[in-house]
Amino acid sequence: MRKGPQKATGEDARIQAKLQSDGEIPRHIAIIMDGNGRWAKQKGMPRIAGHQEGVESVRDAVEACGQLGVEYLTLYAFSTENWKRPQEEVSLLMRLLLKALKDETDRLHTNNVRIRAIGEISSLPQEVQDELAEDIEKTKANTGLTLILALSYSGRWDITRALKQILHDVHSGELKKEDIDESSIERYLSTGGIPDPDLLIRTSGEIRISNFLLWQLAYSEIHITPKYWPAFRRVDLYEGIRDYQKRERRFGMVSEQLSTKRDTPSYFDRVIRSVTGQQP
Ligand code: FPP
Repeated sequence: MRKGPQKATGEDARIQAKLQSDGEIPRHIAIIMDGNGRWAKQKGMPRIAGHQEGVESVRDAVEACGQLGVEYLTLYAFSTENWKRPQEEVSLLMRLLLKALKDETDRLHTNNVRIRAIGEISSLPQEVQDELAEDIEKTKANTGLTLILALSYSGRWDITRALKQILHDVHSGELKKEDIDESSIERYLSTGGIPDPDLLIRTSGEIRISNFLLWQLAYSEIHITPKYWPAFRRVDLYEGIRDYQKRERRFGMVSEQLSTKRDTPSYFDRVIRSVTGQQP
């Protein structure tokens, strides 16, 4: 059985190869999938039709990410706040999610995709929890793209949960107060062990983080596209990656420090040399 994504073909393969040779492919892409309702309204269809078409966008983005060698793709599929939507829409969304998991997991498995989930999973309907557990278990040894579904998730929920666990471990003596630092906090988040997103894509033109990965997005590049999620396809993903490749990620440093060429002296080397008069 094939283990890995089917290779891109034709023009798509050419675009992917160019993206790979032009710059770095982000290791971790996070997406706020927004605009399903507006897409449907624009077409005179019920909101659920937007969510349905959104599943097609998920399928295409997952496949393209796997082909490009993206390691992690995190999708904001259902936020803590989404529970406040009309009961009918919530239940249709849950049914759609369940159906998508049932229909797609075998293909994802063949494509070497590992499924994971973050969020308050215990608040999801039992059927969804069971299906997720089964799919996560089935794909856990896969080594290609890790697809992380953020379900009943919010950044504040994640940080609050981590804080509670940290306090618990400090009280029980498992964690020393002095050992609490950024990297230990990271381990307590639901994304523990997963690198922070390099690129955040948000669809539908809104310029907000909407309580997504609040801690983890500290240094992510942000790409906003006006496209509604159901209209988002791999070409739009490529656009986001191209935009990312144009950015200079400085992590609070200055440009000169970022040179990775061994024979290029670092910014500080050069400052020291200019002050001390040392020659390279
Ligand atoms: C935002 O659009 C979208 C969602 C809240 C749900 C996203 C869910 C899917 C794409 C389907 C299932 C997902 C997977 C991972 C298989 P919106 O409803 O907020 O749109 P609006 O802002 O235009 O009203």
